[in-house]
Amino acid sequence: MSIEKEINRRRTFGIISHPDAGKTTLTEKLLLFGGAIQIAGAVKSNKIKKTATSDFMEIEKQRGISVATSVMAFEYKDYLVNILDTPGHKDFAEDTYRTLTAVDSVILVIDSVKGVEEQTRKLMEICRMRHTPVIVFINKMDRDGRNPFDLLDEVEKELNIAVRPLSWPINMGKSFKGVYLMYDHSLNLFTSNKTKVSENILKIQNLQDPKLVEMIGEKDTSTLKDDVELINEVYEEFDEELYREGYLAPVFFGSAVNNFGIKELLDTFVKIAPSPLPRETSAGMIKAGSGKFSGFVFKIHANIDPKHRDRIAFLRVCSGKFERNRFYHHVRLNKQYKFSNPYNFMAQSKNVIDEAYPGDVIGLYDTGNFKIGDTLTEGEDFTFKGIPSFSPELFKEVINLNPLKTKQLEKGIEQLTDEGVAQLFTQQPGNRKIIGTVGELQFEVIQHRLINEYNALCRFDHLNYYKACWMTGNKEKIDEFCRFRMKDIVFDKDENRVFLAQTAFVLEMAKTNNPDITFHENSEFKIGDGLSKLVK
Ligand code: G4P
Repeated sequence: MSIEKEINRRRTFGIISHPDAGKTTLTEKLLLFGGAIQIAGAVKSNKIKKTATSDFMEIEKQRGISVATSVMAFEYKDYLVNILDTPGHKDFAEDTYRTLTAVDSVILVIDSVKGVEEQTRKLMEICRMRHTPVIVFINKMDRDGRNPFDLLDEVEKELNIAVRPLSWPINMGKSFKGVYLMYDHSLNLFTSNKTKVSENILKIQNLQDPKLVEMIGEKDTSTLKDDVELINEVYEEFDEELYREGYLAPVFFGSAVNNFGIKELLDTFVKIAPSPLPRETSAGMIKAGSGKFSGFVFKIHANIDPKHRDRIAFLRVCSGKFERNRFYHHVRLNKQYKFSNPYNFMAQSKNVIDEAYPGDVIGLYDTGNFKIGDTLTEGEDFTFKGIPSFSPELFKEVINLNPLKTKQLEKGIEQLTDEGVAQLFTQQPGNRKIIGTVGELQFEVIQHRLINEYNALCRFDHLNYYKACWMTGNKEKIDEFCRFRMKDIVFDKDENRVFLAQTAFVLEMAKTNNPDITFHENSEFKIGDGLSKLVK
């Protein structure tokens, strides 16, 4: 198959949701449709427990499991679909944000009972930043949820994206009868079917078709007609271009646990979702089909066996063809590396591969040479942009408890933060090490791994900071601000100066008093622009 064909048939995406909305269940059902797994429940049993405890073994187990389920590839029709898993637990949100840099589109799952929730908002902010195309799946229609029109309103207003329903529910909860598929005038009648992939689709001519009344009764037919009329009045026609630009999200309704509404979601997804998109680099946009191989590392995973220090770097292929045993250029280190055992994640098993194409994610064994964001090329010196760090929400100082193991501690902290477990900031004078995370759980993971893998003991002292902000603007003003605020200025791993604000008020005051400086809560400095214009 030609490289163009390989690129065109690939769909690389992530499923995002607030915990419990049904992401794991939907992933499992998609795999079932793709024939990647035979029995429903296979993903579930591997699931990262949401109620993550401080039980270290549990954390270890979870880390191990998340390697296996981090990427799931399967074939569907002529397409090759790569699902990139995003951890549901909010303490791992940073990992999720970064994974979103490696996808070309997302499916957003919303619980019909709960509507838009906190994590949904945060994740969608990231998608909007990158104009990621979004398909919305409103799940749990078998439960008595909220009015679908209200849900759509909430999605538009709270997530700042225009919507267009492509399927429409006929009732919900106990009286849920199925969905009407707007685009081809068919009815998908609800049957609870947890393990099979068949759907009960009935084609009708239009909403006047007498078969409709036969199937769902007079009352529901009349409500459906009114609803569809209203939808056509209120919402613009579905426009694929606007979807691909990240402005308009098509919406489907269904019930993942009942395997209902998944097929039309998947069929539409493969049809409209983009194949591997061009990516921004320091040398301009690189297209998937631009010939030479390039890719970037978006995730690093430590080996679960502490005796083996090697790690797995997850590389997203962005352009050209990756080949096993060929030397590639590691841009940051300016060195050549070849990989004898790169692997992919087909159908949840690891297979050594000889080649990979744009959109694919490959696992590379790493002995400590990779950092998140690293670029590999055929020799060119550009780097991929847009793998940002986000402001942590918890800050603690690392206190070394065993001075004889200072080196080990420093190495451990350095490597674990390279993996993206947490962010490391250094404060001068004194070389104080400050770790920032989005959740408590990370500190437990770090402490545990420092002991087990590096034989280093430390304590974390809580620091009263609210946000870390990167700064741009007038250099002299920034220098002056940093001199004045010396005790709150730290350096990130790339030697950028970062302001640690103690409270929201302090940050607001800093912004007001320093109009020549822009304070950014992520290191990428590119917040979504003008998306609201399309939301009615
Ligand atoms: P997550 O990955 O987004 O955190 O959600 P997950 O798929 O684990 O689903 C959360 C809960 O919601 C699960 O129940 C799951 O069975 C249920 N669920 C998923 N889809 C539907 C649906 O369409 N309808 C209904 N009624 N429930 C749904 P649980 O009790 O936490 O787990 P389990 O005991 O069912 O395994």
